[in-house]
Amino acid sequence: MMDNESVNLLGGQMLADEEAWLSVIRKMDEAYADLVDYQVQVEEQNTKLAEAQNFFDSVLSAMSDVLVVCDHEGKIQQVNRAFEEFCGRDSKGLMGTWLPELCPSEHFAVMKECLRKVRHTPVRDLEIVINGARGEVPLALNCSPRFNPRGRLIGIVVAGRPLGDLQKAFKELNRTHAELNQTHAELKLAQERLVQSEKMASLGRLVAGVAHELNNPISFVYGNMHALKRYTTRLVEYFDAVQAGASRDELKNLRAQLRLDRAISDLDSLVEGTLEGADRVREIVNDLRQFSSTQRSEKLPFDLVHVAQSALHWILKENPEVIVDKDLPEKLGGRGHSGQIHQVVVNLIQNAVDAIKELPLPKLIIRAGQDGVGANAMLWLEVQDNGPGIAVDDLPRLFDPFFTTKPPGKGTGLGLSISYGIVSEHGGELSVVNLEEGGALARLMLPVSPKNDD
Ligand SMILES: Nc1ncnc2c1ncn2[C@@H]1O[C@H](COP(=O)(O)OP(=O)(O)OP(=O)(O)O)[C@@H](O)[C@H]1O
Ligand SMILES: [Mg+2]
Repeated sequence: MMDNESVNLLGGQMLADEEAWLSVIRKMDEAYADLVDYQVQVEEQNTKLAEAQNFFDSVLSAMSDVLVVCDHEGKIQQVNRAFEEFCGRDSKGLMGTWLPELCPSEHFAVMKECLRKVRHTPVRDLEIVINGARGEVPLALNCSPRFNPRGRLIGIVVAGRPLGDLQKAFKELNRTHAELNQTHAELKLAQERLVQSEKMASLGRLVAGVAHELNNPISFVYGNMHALKRYTTRLVEYFDAVQAGASRDELKNLRAQLRLDRAISDLDSLVEGTLEGADRVREIVNDLRQFSSTQRSEKLPFDLVHVAQSALHWILKENPEVIVDKDLPEKLGGRGHSGQIHQVVVNLIQNAVDAIKELPLPKLIIRAGQDGVGANAMLWLEVQDNGPGIAVDDLPRLFDPFFTTKPPGKGTGLGLSISYGIVSEHGGELSVVNLEEGGALARLMLPVSPKNDD
């Protein structure tokens, strides 16, 4: 049986135990609340960390420059997407690769030396070649050392950009430019030679035409001279008889026998004809002098109508079947190298004739005139034909050297290209177009007074 004191003691003990338990439970509650707080903080930190990680990842991915993070020896630890794309390998494949191993053998030592230097000081603008996905590509690199808080080297950061695209393109451009210059110079030379030989050829054609033309009056003069020589022999015979004292009857007989009356009546027309022939020869030679001057000389006054008539004359002689409709004024005074303009007009007419000569009714219209007055006045000349015209695809190429649709041996394709050069040099314009009603129209325009007067 417990006495009162004992009961009190027991009760006090139980109270103390209960108090202790309550305090433990309170402490546990507090600890638990701290733990929850801590957990919340950790999660917040984690979220921030993940956000920061995402931020850096997106910045690194967005960089167009390459970025490589290496350990202190130069072995790759991390790369950005630009470097992955540059190498054509993913970051896992690149992990642990020693930087110099990415270089072609001749650049291996350069990269090794860079890794040595960067231990002490950053290396700037190192030009080095790296094996990229599209072959060897030169890069400009900046390498910096990375230290821990105690100042020990813990890694290297390499950033850079391909020199390649721009510099290579620049070098390529320079090279192409030099090659183009050379080709251009060669082409110019070849063209000059061709133009010269074309000039010689057209001069040759002109000379052949002139020779043909000269043949007529010369054979005419030659025939007359033969007749005159025959008459002279007879006259000498007659005068010898006169001098020898022949009688009147004898002389009368001799005169009849030698048909002197007819010879004497012929003399005038023979001499007249011979003179005419000689004049014609002189005219032709003058024309030849005027038209064959291909060398650079001063621009002189000339008559475009005369040039056109002469060009027509030369070509129609060979193509008498062509019907020509002329609408020309009496005279159109211009300034230039008439020989060269003649060459242009000959080519325009020849082109038209070539286009129509097989037609049953080959027709050519040649017109000329002047627009405006004074210093800005322009002379124009048109050659129109009723041929098939020019194929639309060929139109842009008409003035290209060697562009021809004529069979080999018939056309060199230089006519319009040379003509264009001549007309431009005179400050004029040359065009060839198709007409709605069919056929082609070539139009030549020349300033009455060219600016560059030589
Ligand atoms: N009036 C025209 N009608 C149809 N085609 C034409 C006419 N004029 C020029 N052409 C076309 O233009 C091309 C180039 O003419 P171009 O005078 O330059 O050279 P070509 O006449 O062929 O040769 P070349 O003049 O050297 O003897 C001709 O081959 C022809 O196809
Ligand atoms: Mg031609």
